[in-house]
Amino acid sequence: MTASLPIALCRLDELADPGSRGLSFTHDGRNYDVFVVRSGTSAYVYLNCCPHTGAPLDWMPDQFLSADLHFIQCAMHAALFRIDDGVCVAGPCTGDALTRLPAAIEEGVVRCSPRTTPEAGV
Ligand code: FES
Repeated sequence: MTASLPIALCRLDELADPGSRGLSFTHDGRNYDVFVVRSGTSAYVYLNCCPHTGAPLDWMPDQFLSADLHFIQCAMHAALFRIDDGVCVAGPCTGDALTRLPAAIEEGVVRCSPRTTPEAGV
């Protein structure tokens, strides 16, 4: 039996498809502000920190997606990021990426690890 990722964030079916939600948790004394994006049966978890200036991406609670729901969009300067890997494809930080956390869906619950992924460069 594989060990679960340590942090339970929310149920996948609580999110619109596509949809997003901002969440916070504490692990080993460190606070994490993250957001979850649902796309079909997949969920992606990123730190709520834009690679352009470090600002949070949401312009209002739980609003992380572009109007067409095809991208994650930063509220500050409108950078667009791919949902599935967090790479910026338009805006002032094109080519940079959001910091992704390892995530999985277990029994309908989106879980993550506070460890960041190697491809995020952290
Ligand atoms: S802070 Fe996100 S695009 Fe500038």
